[in-house]
Amino acid sequence: MSDVKSIAVIGSGTMGSGIALTAAMSGIRAWQIDISPEQLEKAKVYHGRTLARSVEKQRMTQAQADETAGRIVYVQDMAEAAEADWVIEAALENLELKKQLFWKMLEVFREDVVLATNTSSISITAIAAEVEDQAPRVVGMHFFNPVPVMKLVEVIRGLATSEETVRRTTELAVRLGKTPVPANDRAGFVANRVLMPMINEAFYAWMEGVAEPEHIDEIMKLGMAHPMGPLRLADLIGLDICHDILMVLHAELGHEKYFPCPLLRQLVQAGRLGDKTGRGVYEHIS
Ligand code: CAA
Repeated sequence: MSDVKSIAVIGSGTMGSGIALTAAMSGIRAWQIDISPEQLEKAKVYHGRTLARSVEKQRMTQAQADETAGRIVYVQDMAEAAEADWVIEAALENLELKKQLFWKMLEVFREDVVLATNTSSISITAIAAEVEDQAPRVVGMHFFNPVPVMKLVEVIRGLATSEETVRRTTELAVRLGKTPVPANDRAGFVANRVLMPMINEAFYAWMEGVAEPEHIDEIMKLGMAHPMGPLRLADLIGLDICHDILMVLHAELGHEKYFPCPLLRQLVQAGRLGDKTGRGVYEHIS
């Protein structure tokens, strides 16, 4: 059983805010860290809304919801979370940014703290190489959206990740109420390696007029028992994120089949990114 009592979560976007809330709901203190006060405020609103929903559905009392909310501290400076027992980086998918964050993490956190990243497509080995002799502490801890609901954590071992780091990560994932499943450090790991080509193919089917988007989704929902169709799921994930993951798969695995569909690229260029912008494949009213 993991003895982690507090976690620093770097980044307060969809994934980071979901991870901080999941930690707090599991009785773990969380620092929600983001340089942007607006992003922090959005995370706070999301936490409040989700906890209120849990009270409404009688999954927790108001007192428990207040206690859970009280476990999350919102800060702009990583240094304020220096006493954390664990750190999960969930910032933007940009290797240069992640390198800078990992250098700072080395300065700020204790030496026994695992340096986990929620990256969905960047190489764990490449991130770990930046911290040189501390690479055994670096691991991929890949959560799924919406984090409080989805049961999976892909645990990704980089070339230098130690056995102990993998064991502790697996234990923490269980403590967070998740099912950890191991995967090796290849582009997209397992989930996105399999999921993104399906989403890409759904955009091709739409572009080629095989069926309307809602019919493509309905077919995949009813025929394959998926909870939502691939195009609706692309809106949930973010069309820009899907696009960027496909570009990584294409670059790293070197196969044409991973290149993003022109229609997906066009929607991203138009700023139709999905739920987060109110419009992607579909219109979304929040
Ligand atoms: N945060 C917290 N709770 C949420 C939530 C969120 N963002 N979104 C939905 N929920 C909760 C709802 O409150 C609801 O709970 P209660 O009714 O019990 O209160 C429950 O989840 C079900 O939601 P809905 O009734 O609104 O709708 P649904 O039954 O269709 O479920 C869903 C929604 C859970 C998102 C479901 O459609 C689903 O599982 N979709 C597939 C999601 C998926 O595949 N995610 C992985 C994406 S890939 C990824 O994340 C990795 C990557 O690297 C790209």
